[in-house]
Amino acid sequence: MANTSSSSKAEQNRDSAGRRFAIVTGASSGIGYELAKCCAQDGFDLLVVADEPIQRAADDFRGFGANVVAIEADLATVEGVDRLYAASDGRAVDALLANAGHGLGKGFLDQDFDDVRHLIDTNITGTLYLLQRVGREMRRRGTGRILITGSIAGFMPGTFQAAYNGSKAFLDSFSFALRAELKDSGITVTCLMPGATETEFFERADLMDTKIGQAKKDDPADVARQGYDAMMRGDGDVVTGWKNKLQSAIANVTPAGVLAEMHRKQTEPGSASR
Ligand SMILES: NC(=O)c1ccc[n+]([C@@H]2O[C@H](COP(=O)([O-])OP(=O)(O)OC[C@H]3O[C@@H](n4cnc5c(N)ncnc54)[C@H](OP(=O)(O)O)[C@@H]3O)[C@@H](O)[C@H]2O)c1
Repeated sequence: MANTSSSSKAEQNRDSAGRRFAIVTGASSGIGYELAKCCAQDGFDLLVVADEPIQRAADDFRGFGANVVAIEADLATVEGVDRLYAASDGRAVDALLANAGHGLGKGFLDQDFDDVRHLIDTNITGTLYLLQRVGREMRRRGTGRILITGSIAGFMPGTFQAAYNGSKAFLDSFSFALRAELKDSGITVTCLMPGATETEFFERADLMDTKIGQAKKDDPADVARQGYDAMMRGDGDVVTGWKNKLQSAIANVTPAGVLAEMHRKQTEPGSASR
């Protein structure tokens, strides 16, 4: 029911050219780039953001006929999120794809705390602040679609990625709670839960000397397509790919200590060569 009324209101929200409007965070590469592509191909105009230059990606999205505003902002900061929101220039947001995030490998005691903090501020604080700003506006209008990029990492303690997995457990949980709060509001909330995906994530998280860093991974275009379709259907979540579905089912019935040891094999520094 909620989906149908959401769709019809979304139709009314199109601009004079009949185009819908989406915000995609972390759209410069990887899953976010592919999510923004799905939006552009499906007729959305875009506001895209990343922490580093994103103009080349924006040009790609324009190639699908989308009007694109691209900004650089650090979404770990309140100012960065405010700048992103201001760039929407009052235009009604039909879809928010809160995808920006990063990992951090190595042992917790060996990590620089500024990096740990940046991870938490990006993956959790900045994401929630943006969700609240855009979500309130969606609630006022009684329509909207939200996609949050969580992870199957949220199902298991992340030995040598402890803060990252914790941040994704937070987001997975938060997404379902927000969805339940917004039941019958006309807003749908979908959690995209990928497994290991071939993006710049592992290099940026300093995980290239690990088994997972060197393993064959999922195609970001496939992952994004499944996430986008789930968001448009208004599904609660999507675990992408059958292997990840199996892995998350196993995680549900395995003691946390065993999962933490299984994770070690994938992410322990130097595990790539063992
Ligand atoms: N790859 C995987 O195996 C995997 C699996 C499950 C979930 N995920 C999640 O998927 C999402 C996308 O990651 P990805 O794999 O596509 O990695 P990626 O290629 O490194 O892309 C990450 C994107 O997020 C942006 N970003 C990171 N921190 C930011 C910040 N503080 N402010 C603004 N933008 C920021 C990056 O922009 P800059 O380049 O400008 O920093 C980039 O556009 C993340 O939330 C990640 O946790 C990834």
